[in-house]
Amino acid sequence: MPITTNNIPKIYENAADFMPINGTDYLELYVSNSKQAAHFYKTAFGFQSMAYAGLETGLTDRESYVVVQDKIRLILTSPLKSGTDVGRHIDKHGDGVKMIALWVDDATYAYQEAIKRGAKSYMEPVVEKDKDGQVVRAGIYTYGETIHLFVERKDYKGLFLPAFKKWETDYNPEPVGLKYVDHMVGNVELGQMNEWVNFYEDVMGFTQIMSFDDKDISTEYTALMSKVMSNGNGRIKFPINEPAEGLKRSQVDEYLDFYEGAGVQHIAVATDNVIATVKELQARGIEFLRVPTTYYDVLLDRVGPIDEDLEPLKELGVLVDRDDEGYLLQIFTKPVGPRPTMFFEIIQRKGATSFGKGNFKALFEAIEREQEIRGTL
Ligand code: FE2
Repeated sequence: MPITTNNIPKIYENAADFMPINGTDYLELYVSNSKQAAHFYKTAFGFQSMAYAGLETGLTDRESYVVVQDKIRLILTSPLKSGTDVGRHIDKHGDGVKMIALWVDDATYAYQEAIKRGAKSYMEPVVEKDKDGQVVRAGIYTYGETIHLFVERKDYKGLFLPAFKKWETDYNPEPVGLKYVDHMVGNVELGQMNEWVNFYEDVMGFTQIMSFDDKDISTEYTALMSKVMSNGNGRIKFPINEPAEGLKRSQVDEYLDFYEGAGVQHIAVATDNVIATVKELQARGIEFLRVPTTYYDVLLDRVGPIDEDLEPLKELGVLVDRDDEGYLLQIFTKPVGPRPTMFFEIIQRKGATSFGKGNFKALFEAIEREQEIRGTL
């Protein structure tokens, strides 16, 4: 049921940050088999069973499993019949991120502000209630068919959302140390990057904190450009990529072809111990991009002293980069579905607030080797 609020909270009235966001609330992925996807994210990535909605809770057109690891919540949703929006989305895009849900104090206010500033509406504010209180959600479109939902849960004490029941199971693999969503990258079409940069500035009140052009991010063959958008408190960071002219097809072009449009390219999740986390992920079958071992011959000359031993980093293929504020360790999975589209980044920040620019060349050459094998370069 839609609600109306004429009372905009006073605390926001004069705020420069007109859209305060507390953090990422959840990510909803539309996938072809939610039950098996949930098993995969539990078994391979160490997520825990959290909640369920489907036939047993009265839904007739879809089924969702919610898995959680520390602050990261994923909803995995599949259709229960043909002809649904979820099914159409999967048919066009394959498995991918549909909803990036943002946790706000007042979803109606956030929605109204965004609409006032030019956002396209996906869902007007809806109040959902159960015995534990109420949640308000509203949504706007961002790039492609991706949605930002505003989620207000200050009057809710329940497990996740009304309409979901607790998912209890005897199969509970150990977590691998993933803590929160560090950033999420969107790939958009050639010439569209600045349009979406403007959208995040004008509609969401974000600011651009970094940019990379084709001189930063190019190999012998392919190139891309990227700008990083951040909300006021820095908890939400969205780099936006677009392809740049190169001799061959870039990884962003490949993504856009196979996703059939703009969408989420990777979800970067943070850990406090990248070596332990990646060792465990590899033991559970997650495949990562590998750079040549020569990368490690000059690593310490490039980044200076680091706390970690070089050997396990080299063995696992973890990359390191340094900026003015510190350093970071990062590694990228191969795409997690059949299409060469969405993948994960595992990142540990030790002061650094950047995104690993020093690794771009080695990394993109690694991606090109994969593209070569796929015949999509
Ligand atoms: Fe990233």
